[in-house]
Amino acid sequence: MKVFIIGVSGSIGGLLARNLIDRGDEVSGLVRRDEQRADLAARGIDARVADLADITPGSLASMLRGIDAVVYTAGSNGGAREVTAAIDGDGVVKALEATRIARVKRFTLVSVLPEAGRGQEFDEDVEFYFAVKKLIDVAVSESGLDWLILRPSALVDNAGIGAIALGPAQPHDEISREDVAATLAELLHEPRIRRQILELTQGSTPIATAVQTNIR
Ligand SMILES: NC(=O)c1ccc[n+]([C@@H]2O[C@H](COP(=O)([O-])OP(=O)(O)OC[C@H]3O[C@@H](n4cnc5c(N)ncnc54)[C@H](OP(=O)(O)O)[C@@H]3O)[C@@H](O)[C@H]2O)c1
Repeated sequence: MKVFIIGVSGSIGGLLARNLIDRGDEVSGLVRRDEQRADLAARGIDARVADLADITPGSLASMLRGIDAVVYTAGSNGGAREVTAAIDGDGVVKALEATRIARVKRFTLVSVLPEAGRGQEFDEDVEFYFAVKKLIDVAVSESGLDWLILRPSALVDNAGIGAIALGPAQPHDEISREDVAATLAELLHEPRIRRQILELTQGSTPIATAVQTNIR
């Protein structure tokens, strides 16, 4: 399978790329600096250079020809509003359009649990981030593509445990980025899971079993 990861230089993007390559998949992706491209090439990843804030859907589409699935795991992680709007908002809209232009069917978005901030006092920029993420989930779910939205709970850098809780609704807790990446890889290898929003947190079900449980 040929997978294009938007955000391949990021934590989840890099872990997902490694997981897919280990399975024998071909991974390419988008980075915004030349030096990232060289680093990734050394790991067998064919990266293209462009900034999501400037790229057009047409030029992104030209990078997606022949790809089987697009994964969007780029994000501002709640920075300034204009960056959030550009990367968590408009960037996803451009990627959806590019996916359609390139006639790629599958599009997977790494989103966030909408209630992740409940009970906490966030500044307005973080509130804005959650609002943008939710509205983009709407856009992805109405895209007509074979979309999948994965909403992990709070990301931590602990080693993965290979066991998760995955389903239409999960409580907000924590999950290791390694387990998120392993779950994404498993989901990409299960095309019967499509047009679903799945929430993900740490749990006790082996990843492959948890994924199979969500086939409808
Ligand atoms: N933090 C949490 O607890 C949490 C919880 C649930 C979901 N999430 C979501 O999970 C996703 C991935 O998390 P992560 O830990 O992997 O994040 P990360 O390590 O910060 O990776 C973000 C990626 O986005 C890329 N990016 C940002 N701006 C860009 C631009 N203008 N053009 C091109 N690429 C750009 C980054 O590129 P560079 O390497 O160049 O910076 C990087 O590859 C995010 O969307 C986040 O919203 C986070």
